[in-house]
Amino acid sequence: MAWPMKTLNQSPHDPEFVQNPYTVYAQARRDGPVLYWEDYGMLAAFDAATVQALLRDRRLGREAPPDQRRPVPAHMTDFYRVEAQSMLELEPPAHTRLRGLVLRAFTSRRIAGMGPEIEAIAAELLAALPDGPVDLIPAYCTQIPVRIIARLLGVPEDMWPDLLRWSNAMVAVYQAGCTRAVEDAANAAAADFSAFLRGYVDQRRSDPRDDLITQLIAAEEDGERLSTDALISTCILLLNAGHEATVHALGNGVACLLTHEISPGVLASDRIDATVEEILRYDPPLHVFERFAYEDIDLGDVILPKGDKVALVLGAAGRDPALWADPDQFDPNRSVKAHAAFGGGLHFCVGAPLARLELQIALRALFDHAPHLWLTEQPHYADSYHFHKLERLMVRR
Ligand code: HEM
Repeated sequence: MAWPMKTLNQSPHDPEFVQNPYTVYAQARRDGPVLYWEDYGMLAAFDAATVQALLRDRRLGREAPPDQRRPVPAHMTDFYRVEAQSMLELEPPAHTRLRGLVLRAFTSRRIAGMGPEIEAIAAELLAALPDGPVDLIPAYCTQIPVRIIARLLGVPEDMWPDLLRWSNAMVAVYQAGCTRAVEDAANAAAADFSAFLRGYVDQRRSDPRDDLITQLIAAEEDGERLSTDALISTCILLLNAGHEATVHALGNGVACLLTHEISPGVLASDRIDATVEEILRYDPPLHVFERFAYEDIDLGDVILPKGDKVALVLGAAGRDPALWADPDQFDPNRSVKAHAAFGGGLHFCVGAPLARLELQIALRALFDHAPHLWLTEQPHYADSYHFHKLERLMVRR
């Protein structure tokens, strides 16, 4: 490693940083744009060009190289049994095979066909909103993505509270400051989630329908293409990834629209897609993903040594003035450019078209239903980095 190394000392729990990480990101980009982030114990890239380039660089990947693999701790075996077969944790050829199977089911026709179903769930939730102050995260933002992904996969929709509980417990291990209690809860959730799916898949073998589980079962019964463990992991990945980020993209988006003076025109059918892209650029729900370097990588001022990890700060990339004029301004009228909120390269979000559709429909439906919606308290982000999500979103019609 080239020394002296430029460093960043910034706790991800610092209350000011949790509420607004973007000021720190801007300084880090000016000082770096690649810095050694002490609190993360690795190099971190804060500018759009480096983040986008490293996401696409095949000399890096998510899968740990053989000499970096750590033995799985005994209290986490169920959790890592799921992770070991998750496409998000694999590189080609295993990744290509799993992703291909999922993409076959996530066709654009199938996703577009979900529009009326998303609208119906939104309408049902809006009709049930009370007149008094309400927290929109549980009352509106959560149920749309979780119920839709359950339907797409073919898991009973009324199980959504269980899916949410298991998923929340599992993804908590990715938060900074993970404790033994969090790990134990994640492992228990992984065990329960897997046991449910194992039983459910068995029950569904003789009950084919037009859903993703049916297609995955067919691939599994084909023998060589998908093991039962990989089938379970894929279902869990889709159910978890299928709502965690969308819930909070929606929450951040509603807060963003309510805290800025926005003309109702930005929600019109021909403008909503640009508005959603601006929300994802401006305040995305997932801020950091990591990559292992499979060889030494020259990052300009510094070499990322083979075997080390680098943090790609997606949340910072969206505020890079090299790509966006006045990047700290929320402006749904700006022309759309590719942002990094869905990643890039081989692991680019499989669910991006679905998430976009859900966000577009849910935002329009909400403001159609409640055009004078207002915040009854300042939105407050949770101490849950790298998730950038609201703890509560209290509003009133
Ligand atoms: C606004 C909502 C969403 C955001 C911001 C988001 C963001 C991301 C990002 C950044 C990645 C790449 C991670 C990396 O490169 O290390 C990713 C991957 C992934 N996402 Fe999403 N996502 C969202 C919604 C969804 C939905 C609705 C689904 C499910 C249908 C989904 C399924 C996945 C899957 C399966 C992967 C792994 C892809 C792979 O490894 O090839 N996501 N997502």
